[in-house]
Amino acid sequence: MVEIWIDGDRVEAEDGQSVMQAARASGHEIPYFCWHPALSVPGNCRICMVEVEGDDASAGWLDIACNMPIAKGMHIRTDSERVRARRKEMLQLVTLNHPVDCGICDKAGECTLQDYHYRYNGEPSVSRDAKVRATKHHALSERIVLDNERCILCSRCVRFTREISKSHGLGIQHRGDHSLVRAVENGAFERDPYSDNVIDLCPVGALLSRPFLHKARVWYLEPTASICPGCERGCSVDIWHRKKAWTLKRLDPAANARIDRVTPRENPAVNGPWICNKGRDLALVFERPRATAAMVGGEAVELEAAVERARELIAAARHPAALVSSWGSNEELAAFHAAFGTRFACHVKTDHLPEPGERLEDELLIKPDKNPNRRAATALYPSLPDAPRAAFPAGCDLVLVWGEGCDFDALPPGAKVLHLDAWRHPAEFRADVFLPISVQTERSGHYTNFAGVVSRFEACFEKPATVADAEALFAALAMPARVEAP
Ligand code: SF4
Ligand code: SF4
Ligand code: FES
Repeated sequence: MVEIWIDGDRVEAEDGQSVMQAARASGHEIPYFCWHPALSVPGNCRICMVEVEGDDASAGWLDIACNMPIAKGMHIRTDSERVRARRKEMLQLVTLNHPVDCGICDKAGECTLQDYHYRYNGEPSVSRDAKVRATKHHALSERIVLDNERCILCSRCVRFTREISKSHGLGIQHRGDHSLVRAVENGAFERDPYSDNVIDLCPVGALLSRPFLHKARVWYLEPTASICPGCERGCSVDIWHRKKAWTLKRLDPAANARIDRVTPRENPAVNGPWICNKGRDLALVFERPRATAAMVGGEAVELEAAVERARELIAAARHPAALVSSWGSNEELAAFHAAFGTRFACHVKTDHLPEPGERLEDELLIKPDKNPNRRAATALYPSLPDAPRAAFPAGCDLVLVWGEGCDFDALPPGAKVLHLDAWRHPAEFRADVFLPISVQTERSGHYTNFAGVVSRFEACFEKPATVADAEALFAALAMPARVEAP
């Protein structure tokens, strides 16, 4: 431990820390643009200036906190008059050519330049010259648009592709106020499966998501803690959706229950501060056409009638089997196990296979199994073998299929089929009984990732009135016939 003083407070810092790290760890705020805890330290924005007191208090010096190692007994001032004056000068420099088009910028509300400008500067540009113009809508990739006028050249995005994703997909070309962030010409940034992290990293509104562009002001939205089900890593994410206070009544009511964007929720035990692009695209998974009608023999019926028929099939079965979802939560698996775990011959199936061209695995986050809860499911039951017929008992007369990914042609001929799923699929018409169930964004629960880390997800939206939670359904199906459905 190294004893230092920050704004008069005694701080026990760790050996090797910078002043920035020691200040943050002890609850002292220092502004920063280019510094990021997971990236190298370029020291180029100079906004993190602090004052180090000398022997004579009036003879202190100014230096950047992010690149200054702590030294025993040093006294730091983070908010002195000299510090505030220097920060104001730095902000005047940064805003010389900044367009100040916050009114139409998606970053407004989350922009550190905006925040620091109001805290340390608050005055119009000091330049008498016209601002340098640059490209406003440069398509950096299929997913990201770059506004070069807003870029403050902090280089975070460039360093991310060199140090974290290792695609080396971005660079800065030219010099001075003609400098431009650009993607390298070999397409490495387009192919970088982690590219969207630069949107979060950008301290200003220079890098923006094309799918989210001008869709919503961020203060209309709120995050719900969730888990990406895109692979067995189970990254912690925030699913952003419209706040109840800002419910749209006339324009587009569907926007009130829609995923507007997905961002990483920092979790050192699972994903650190990052997620891959697949995790950003969860709307493509959860907002597929939903199966909302219960069916018996391919005909839509009330949920209660379908549950009753399912109970009859279960009661009549002599050799029942089940294909268990690798997308079911720990709670759903426990409910399934309590209801059928000993009576049915159970195997865990693969609900989702990798998409064509999808990265299978790498050293950063992406894992080969594209299902979030196989570890918990296979703690209860074996995986479905490559030859699925071998998994069914002789004389199998009922198969309960939970979730997606089932090859219905591989089920034992003549066996009745009871199918639970959330999305529309031609198979819902083939099952003897089909029961529509809720999706992850409509219920809370836990997944256990490949390393055994258990994470929780919360509900963001109401489920449709005609669908049930699988957890409640399993308990209801295990009851004798002619008992109230959930
Ligand atoms: S685009 Fe954003 S992250 Fe990249 S250098 Fe410019 S300001 Fe920094
Ligand atoms: S690494 Fe896996 S869990 Fe994490 S965001 Fe990507 S697909 Fe989702
Ligand atoms: S944050 Fe220290 S120089 Fe940019």
